[in-house]
Amino acid sequence: MLLPRARGAISAEVFARLLQAPPGVGTVPMPPGWPDHFEDPLEDEDLQVTLWALYELHYKGFEDVEDEWEWDAGMLAVRRELERSFEAALRTLAEPHVRAVVGGKGDLADRLFDLTEAFEGPELSAYLQRTATREQTEEFLALRSIYHLKESDPQSWAIPRLQPAIKSRLVELQFDEYGGGRPERVHQALYATTLERAGLDPAYGAYIDDVPAIVLATNNAMSLFGLHRRLNGAAMGHLGAFEATSSLPCVRYAAGLRRLGFGDDAAFYFDEHVEADAVHEQLALRGICAALALDDPSQEADIVFGAVICLALDVRFAEQLLGAWDSDANLLGPEHDGVPVPA
Ligand SMILES: [Fe+2]
Ligand SMILES: [Fe+2]
Repeated sequence: MLLPRARGAISAEVFARLLQAPPGVGTVPMPPGWPDHFEDPLEDEDLQVTLWALYELHYKGFEDVEDEWEWDAGMLAVRRELERSFEAALRTLAEPHVRAVVGGKGDLADRLFDLTEAFEGPELSAYLQRTATREQTEEFLALRSIYHLKESDPQSWAIPRLQPAIKSRLVELQFDEYGGGRPERVHQALYATTLERAGLDPAYGAYIDDVPAIVLATNNAMSLFGLHRRLNGAAMGHLGAFEATSSLPCVRYAAGLRRLGFGDDAAFYFDEHVEADAVHEQLALRGICAALALDDPSQEADIVFGAVICLALDVRFAEQLLGAWDSDANLLGPEHDGVPVPA
């Protein structure tokens, strides 16, 4: 579809601007003290927490922030500036893997399954199954709460942007994630029960001040992909890789919780994902990702990009968490990487 015909002075002016290239980096005056560049955007707590809060304006928002801020042009410009640094860092991180998969032989779904199997990282789920202490397991659950309490919401942004056949598959998948018509089975709600039964705070965002940059970055990547129509392929690739790396680890997480005596109610969230995600991975990688690439081959690179980011950030998270535990430290807490957070 092309832009509609202008019907007066306002539409003429707005449409004329839309037909030009967007203004781009550096055209919006940033607040004083704004850095020229970020050393490592993925590990920058300041960048990540700002971006997380600005994205949250599009989800549930904050009790102490006026809803109008969601679409404030100045604040969107700030968000866009942070996103440019963040997305560039994500692309740099993913690039070698993306190059190895894009344009390869065979079905894209098979290539993505191969990618998820071959992607190397520490065995966090095996550690939680066999070795983790109760405190470590609680820490893991709290760190993961930032995503699981809004599980599947970032992927729902993609629905209106897909063509009907692919849209129906995403909605089929999301129907499961949102409980299949049973409010108590919404995965977000199941995870809240897990937190509660583990003696943790099940409130949305309860641990936001205590999670490190990698957890914020993991969540921000999903919001970045979900909120930008141009990144729809990345959103679906991320979903595919997420579903394809969930089923087996969930067997282990559930076993770890039972080993520590957490009980069936606490483990149920993970039990539920063992079978569900074995179905979801087929739906996401074959029914959505491969179909999307077949429909529009220009999407393939971004589908792979999204998948690689899911895997790469998960590996970073596992490395940081196991690394912390290895030196009797932790990731959850008001201070990370020795950087004191101002009171
Ligand atoms: Fe789920
Ligand atoms: Fe799933």
